[in-house]
Amino acid sequence: MLTVAENERLTRVGPGTPMGDLLRRYWHPVAAVAQMDQEPTREVRLLGEDLVLYKDRSGAYGLIDRYCAHRRVNLAYGIPEENGLRCMYHGWLYDEAGQCTEQPFEETVRPESRFKDKIKLPAYPVEALGGLLFAYMGPLPAPLVPRWDVFTWNNVIREIGSTQLPCNWLQCMENSADPVHTEWLHGRFFAQVLERMAPDKERPLYWQKHVKIDFDTFDYGFIKRRLVEGGSEEDDDWKVGHPVLFPNVLRLGGGGVYEHHYRVPIDDHNTMHWAYEVFAPETELPQQDHVPYYDIPLRFDDGRLVDDTIDAQDNLAWVVQGPVMDRSLERLGESDRGVILYRQMLHDQMQIVEDGGEPMCVFRDPSENVVLTLPTEENKFGSGRKFSRTVFEATHARYSPNAVEIEALFDKAAAEAGDR
Ligand code: FES
Ligand SMILES: [Fe+2]
Repeated sequence: MLTVAENERLTRVGPGTPMGDLLRRYWHPVAAVAQMDQEPTREVRLLGEDLVLYKDRSGAYGLIDRYCAHRRVNLAYGIPEENGLRCMYHGWLYDEAGQCTEQPFEETVRPESRFKDKIKLPAYPVEALGGLLFAYMGPLPAPLVPRWDVFTWNNVIREIGSTQLPCNWLQCMENSADPVHTEWLHGRFFAQVLERMAPDKERPLYWQKHVKIDFDTFDYGFIKRRLVEGGSEEDDDWKVGHPVLFPNVLRLGGGGVYEHHYRVPIDDHNTMHWAYEVFAPETELPQQDHVPYYDIPLRFDDGRLVDDTIDAQDNLAWVVQGPVMDRSLERLGESDRGVILYRQMLHDQMQIVEDGGEPMCVFRDPSENVVLTLPTEENKFGSGRKFSRTVFEATHARYSPNAVEIEALFDKAAAEAGDR
């Protein structure tokens, strides 16, 4: 249980808040490259700041204040030019540093005018990696965008999905420090959902009883471990464990399917959930020239929260805790040891930033950022390291427009393995 003040310290993300300052030390996904290829300007709200992301005609990205400095129109309706974004109202042009570089009428009537030099919008660096666009809103110089192993693998299929959630980001992250929910939310609850929706459907794997959980910190965050009934400490779920990357990323993996889930605060009450998915069937795969993007639904058409995928069940649990869960009323038990550890890490790292230091998991040396390899519990819940169609179809990947092709590639890989 926390005090109201402690809860606010952990959940508020706006400029000048302790958590806002900590989260501004990291790069966060803001859009997929594929989204910007379709539409070159996009409203972005990140850590409580209203911004516009654009791609100019030279291919450069900018992330600047959403409102023109002149008469405050929304620059998401602006005109991408060769070098920057031009306001559609009176033609002021901004570059990716937010600097105004042209004021057409001012320069016509007073060619010597340097008015534009005084006009600069807040602006943040943007970098593309693996089909995702990351933004950094902290003090400069910016650190490196972490090159997690999933961004570096060859012969894989990548996809990006996102869901906007009406709840605070910390609810998503605390769930990732909580192994026990799996057997209930994705086991018993899922079984009941399937009973209602598709009684003949195969039951997903995840409902073994948890008998032991443990957690340890490592350079990039913490590892959670679970021992389920009938298992042993030699199982990957215990021995290898499941990494959570500080401060706001869950890594998932096993059976040729790997994901990073980024929980990016839009503001105190809303979160953008980015699913970066990597499929690695062991077969010759078609060359992927661009990484596709798709929306992952939060609600059914009738407004109810989606509850028939593992990912949607997590969304549901976070959203029904309310916009900002009231941690002054919670009652924590043994199953919450990971939640307590994670909150302590957040407190410690906020303190480091307040004291003027650099928090953990920030990379500045390119030679240490070539490939950041992560442990992966391949043999998850006794899956035998194999791709499971039942699990795949029980995840948000089933909303992918390419789901059928991806499953076919895993079938091809299985058939080829059988041939050997
Ligand atoms: S409002 Fe943008 S140039 Fe006038
Ligand atoms: Fe979950």
